[in-house]
Amino acid sequence: MGAGIAEVCARAGLDVVVNEVDEVRAEAGRDRIRASLDRAVRSGKLTGGERAAVLQRVRVSPCFDELADRDVVFEAIAEDETLKTEVFARLDKVVENREAILASNTSSVPIMKLGVATTRPEYVLGVHFFNPVPVLPLVEIVPSLLTADAVRTAAEQLVTEVLGKEIVRSQDRAGFVVNALLIPYLLSAIRMVESGFASPEDIDRGMVLGCAHPMGPLRLADLIGLDTTKSIAESLYEEFKEALYSPPPLLSRMVDAGLLGRKSGRGFHTYS
Ligand code: 3HC
Repeated sequence: MGAGIAEVCARAGLDVVVNEVDEVRAEAGRDRIRASLDRAVRSGKLTGGERAAVLQRVRVSPCFDELADRDVVFEAIAEDETLKTEVFARLDKVVENREAILASNTSSVPIMKLGVATTRPEYVLGVHFFNPVPVLPLVEIVPSLLTADAVRTAAEQLVTEVLGKEIVRSQDRAGFVVNALLIPYLLSAIRMVESGFASPEDIDRGMVLGCAHPMGPLRLADLIGLDTTKSIAESLYEEFKEALYSPPPLLSRMVDAGLLGRKSGRGFHTYS
C-alpha cells in the first residue's frame, strides 16, 4: 500500500498495515506519512491529537506475512506487470480471509492478469487513486471479467462511504479512463520540448494560464514520476498499438539518466 492510500485509510479510522520490502523503505514510508500529516496539521485540517491517533493506526513493516489477517489489501508497488503478478500470487497464499478484497492501485496493468495469478480472481479488482492521494477526490473502480459483482459493490462502498472519495467505473483496459486520456496529452507536451517547439516553462504556463489546469503537463509528468509515466505509456502502447501512446525518446533518455521528476529532484523542472 502506498503512503498516500495508507494515510487516507488511517484518517478514515481504519487499522492499517503497510508492507515495504525492507526496513530502509519502511522508515521512508513512515517519514512520508508523518510529513503529509504534518502538512495537514499546519494547514489546520488535522489537530495534533488527531495526527497522533492516525499514526497509532498505521503499522509499517517489511514483513509480508503481517498481511495475513487483512480484510482488504491495496497493492501499490511500481507499475511492473511481472512484480505485480508475483505480489498477487503471494497475497493469495498469505491472506487468510478467502473473502478479502485484493485491490490493485495499478494505472495500466490488466486486472485480469492479476486476478488469474491468484486462486480467487473474483475477489481481485482495480482501485486506482490519484496523486496526491490525500488531496484528489477521484478513485477509478475497475473490475475484471472475473470480478464478482458483490466484490465490486463492496469496494465501491468502502471507497465512497468510508474513505470519502468519488468514483468512476472503467472497463479493464490499459490506462482505464483517466490515464488513457491524460498520458497522450503528457507525451504530446514532451514531444513539443523534444522538437524545440516551446520551452517546458512556456508549455506549462500555457496550460495553467490558458486552460486553468492546476499545473502544466510537464510539471504533472514530474509529479507522477517520469519512470511511471513511461511505464504507463508502454502499457498503453502494448494494449492499443497506437502511435500517440508511444513514449518519446526524450522521455526514455531522461529515465535512463535517472531524471525522474520530483522524486529525484530533477525532471523537466528542478526541485529542491
Ligand atoms: N500531500 C498532501 N497534501 C497535499 C500535497 C501532498 N503531496 N500536495 C498538496 N497538498 C495539499 C496542501 O496541503 C494544500 O491543502 P490546503 O489548501 O488545505 O492547505 C492543497 O493540497 C493545495 O496545495 P498547495 O497550495 O501547496 O499547492 P497547489 O494549490 O498548487 O496544489 C496540487 C497542489 C494539489 C498538487 C495541485 O497542483 C493539483 O491538483 N495538481 C494536479 C494533480 C493531478 O493532476 N494529479 C493526477 C495525476 S495522475 C495520477 O495520479 C494517476 C497515476 O496513475 C499516474
